[in-house]
Amino acid sequence: MKGVILAGGLGTRLYPLTKVTNKHLLPVFNKPMIFYPIETLVKAGITDIMVVTGGPHCGHFLSILKNGHELGIKHLEYAYQENEGGIADALSLAREFVEKDSVAVILGDNTSDADITKPVNDFKEGALIFLKEVPDPERFGIATLDPNDSSKIIKITEKPQVPDSNMAVTGVYIYDNQVFDFIDAIKPSGRGELEITDVNNRYVEKGQLSWCELEGYWWDAGTFDTLLEANNYWAKKDKGQQNK
Ligand code: DAU
Repeated sequence: MKGVILAGGLGTRLYPLTKVTNKHLLPVFNKPMIFYPIETLVKAGITDIMVVTGGPHCGHFLSILKNGHELGIKHLEYAYQENEGGIADALSLAREFVEKDSVAVILGDNTSDADITKPVNDFKEGALIFLKEVPDPERFGIATLDPNDSSKIIKITEKPQVPDSNMAVTGVYIYDNQVFDFIDAIKPSGRGELEITDVNNRYVEKGQLSWCELEGYWWDAGTFDTLLEANNYWAKKDKGQQNK
């Protein structure tokens, strides 16, 4: 399985910090944000990785990641996203890299200590998304589960005003190779982006979207408040480990 980390966008919610570097290179405790999703993939045995990025500071990734070997990556590629065309648009740039393989995708601003090794090893076809209960579902893609069989997803709604549940779609996804055809078939949303939620709903329509809970800590660090929270979590965890 290949790994793709999506680290494009302008990070405007973190201005002025992101006027000088890319959001995914800002510190989360003692390392750049993007190290966390890379570590999640490498821990799961995925060492063939593409980073999709863009914006004025994209060159900074090379300085810090280089060929990725220091982080356990065997083969690292980069792709450049021209505009903020959305998460699915960023993923479409990985088509040639993924070839006929399946792909684990992580959003570059998601930090987690979850171990996804088993779901990665067990994955065969369709798509698998990782859900997590959140107190503020309006901020996320939210899953509506079948009331008679909670293992089934009926639909995903992106940032619903009136959420059906508080089960958020985290920025960790596993897709088979159909994903690129599904991206080709979707249209930009009201905010002008190709939405990963529309891709996930294509899998729902085909009865091929399954889910599991993302175990452990997970947080998206894309705003000042969530960035602070992620910093505090990782600092505390590091101290806990040092005191052992
Ligand atoms: O964090 C989980 C949430 O991430 C999901 O619950 C939502 O369904 C999903 O749409 C997404 O929502 P966000 O509002 O947090 O997405 P955001 O626009 O902040 O983008 C998240 C990451 O995706 C960002 O750090 C970099 C990457 N990205 C995003 C866009 C719009 C790209 O690489 N290119 C893009 O054009």
